Amino acid sequence: MLHLTLQARLQAAVRTVLPDAETAAILVRPCPDARHGDYQSNALIAVAKQRKLNPRQLAEQVKAALDVADVCDAVDIAGPGFLNFRVRPAALAATLQAAGRGEHLFYAAAAQPRTVVIDFSSPNVAKPMHVGHIRSTGIGDALQRIFRLLGHRVISDNHIGDWGTQFGKLLLGWKQILDRDALAADAIAELERLYKVINAECDANPARLEEAKQELVKLQAGDADNIAVWQEMIRVSQVQFDAIYGRLGVKFDHALGESFYNPQLGPVVEDLLARGIARESEGAVGVFSDGSLPPKQDPFLVNRDGEWIADPALVRKSDGGFNYMTTDLATIDYRLKTWAPAEIVYVVDDRQAPHFKKLFLTFARWQPESAAKVKLVHVGFGKILGEDGKPFKTRSGDTVKLGELLDEAEERALKVVTEKNPDLPEAERKEIARVVGLGAVKYADLLPNRQSDYMFSWDKMLALQGNTAPYLLYAYTRVQSVLRKQASEARGQETELQLVAAEELALAKHFLNFGLVLEAAAEEYRPNFLCNYLYDLAGLFARFYENCPVLKAEGAERATRLLLCDLTGRVLKQGLEVLGIQTTEQM
Ligand code: ARG
Repeated sequence: MLHLTLQARLQAAVRTVLPDAETAAILVRPCPDARHGDYQSNALIAVAKQRKLNPRQLAEQVKAALDVADVCDAVDIAGPGFLNFRVRPAALAATLQAAGRGEHLFYAAAAQPRTVVIDFSSPNVAKPMHVGHIRSTGIGDALQRIFRLLGHRVISDNHIGDWGTQFGKLLLGWKQILDRDALAADAIAELERLYKVINAECDANPARLEEAKQELVKLQAGDADNIAVWQEMIRVSQVQFDAIYGRLGVKFDHALGESFYNPQLGPVVEDLLARGIARESEGAVGVFSDGSLPPKQDPFLVNRDGEWIADPALVRKSDGGFNYMTTDLATIDYRLKTWAPAEIVYVVDDRQAPHFKKLFLTFARWQPESAAKVKLVHVGFGKILGEDGKPFKTRSGDTVKLGELLDEAEERALKVVTEKNPDLPEAERKEIARVVGLGAVKYADLLPNRQSDYMFSWDKMLALQGNTAPYLLYAYTRVQSVLRKQASEARGQETELQLVAAEELALAKHFLNFGLVLEAAAEEYRPNFLCNYLYDLAGLFARFYENCPVLKAEGAERATRLLLCDLTGRVLKQGLEVLGIQTTEQM
C-alpha cells in the first residue's frame, strides 16, 4: 500500500536526521482535505516537541533526507510542520495494476497477528431469539470476519445461557403440562409457554414455587432424569438457534454455554475467598470495592441519596447457587488457559456495562499477572427503537422474534425486487430478495454508531437510494453488468493505465484507503466505519460511471476504466462480505 511505502521512507528519513529516534509512531494517513494532498503525517511535530526542536526546521531536514520521488509528485510542509504528500498517478496506477493481477486488494495482513476471542450472540435456552439479538450477532460476526481478513487468529464463542434458576420452573412444566405436538411444531414457543404458566402459578402459590425449587435442586445435584430433560431443552433450542444462524450465515468456532463452567464455579469462589478478594455478607459471597478508584468511577459503589454504598459483584448466593458473574470469571480463566488470547471481546448490549466493569476489575484483582497480558473489552451497543421512538415491539406490544423479522425482510425485499425486475422468474426474484432483505436488516443495524439507539424503519433500510444495503448491492450489480459485457477483455493488467479524469483519480485513491478503514474498524470494534467507506465508494463509482464512459472508450483509457470497474466490484464484494452481507449479480 502506498501509505505504508511512504511511512517506511519517512521513518527512514527521520532516522537519518535523528539516528536515535524511535520511529514506530511516525504514521502516514490520508489527508483529511484532498486539496492539501493525498497523504499526510503530523508526527514530526511531536518528535520536535519531545526534543525541543523547531518543528518546521525538523520538517525541512527530514524532507531533504526523504526519498519518495518515485511515489510522489510533491512533498509540502504545511502549518507548524505537517508533511503533505501528493501521489503520482503512475504510482497509483502501479498499485491498481498489482490489485488487478490479484496480488492484493488494498489491505495487508497484520504485521503482528493476535489471538482474539469474540464472545457474541449468546442467546438463552428456552427463549426465542428476538430482534435485539440481531445486534450482538451482526456486530460480533462482522468483527470476527474483519479480524480474520486482517490475518488475526479469531476464536468465536457463543456463550449460550443454558443454566440458571429458570430451569426449575421449566422442568416442572415439562413434566406436568408439556404439549408434545406443540413442542414438535415450535419448541421454543412451547418452552416459553411452560415457563410463563408455571411462573404465574409460582407467583400465586408458594407450594408450587417450592416444587419448582426441588426440581432445580435435583438438576443441580445431577439427577439423571432432570439432566436428560434439561439436555433435551438445550438441544431443541439449539436447533432453532442454528436455523437462524444458518439464515444469517453466522458461524462460531465454539458454543460453550454457561453450564460448561459449572464444575469450576465452586473452586472459583473458594479461591476468591482464600485470597481475600471476596468476602461473605449476609450469607452471600461478593467482591467489594477495594477503594482504588474514585467513587464515581467505582462500579462496586452506587450512590443512594447522596451517599456511596456498596454494590458488590455477587459470586455466590445465600442459597449456595452461583451468579452470572461467577460463570464469567470461570470463563475468562478457561479462555486464557485454553487459547492464550491477547484480547477477549464481549459483544453485549450496553445495559450490561456495569457487569463487565465489575467483571474485568474483579478478574484483575484475582489474577493480576494474567490480566496484564490480556485486553478485556466490552463492545456495547444501544437499543433498537420503533418509529414511535420507544423500544421496538410488535403491534400487540410483544418483542419481535428474529425469525419472523427475517421473514418479513425477505417478503418486503421481494416487492422491491419485483418492482425493479418484473420479468425475472419468481425463483430468481426470491433468491435476490433473500440477499437484499437479510442484507438490509444487517446493514441498517451495523451502520449507526453502535452505542446509539437507532430507529428500525423498513422503508429506510430497503430504499434504493441513500446509505443502505440495497443501494450498495445495486451498485455492485451495475459494476458486474459492465464487466459481463466485457468478460473476455484484458482489464488493464498488461496495458499501461491512464488515470486522468478527476473522477478516475478520486475512485482510485479511495481504493487505497480500504485497508486503513478495515484496521480502524478492528481497532475500535466499529463495523460502521466500513459501511461508510463502502457508501463513499459506491458514490465515487457512480460519479465516475456518469462522467467516464467505459464501453465507448478505447485503448488505455478503456483498459483503465474497466480495471476501475473490476476493482470497485471486488472491494465492494469483499467489504460487504466482512459485514456478513452476500452480493447478487442482478437486482
Ligand atoms: N446470555 C446473556 C444474555 O442474554 C449474554 C451473555 C453474554 N456473554 C457473557 N460472557 N456474559 O444476557
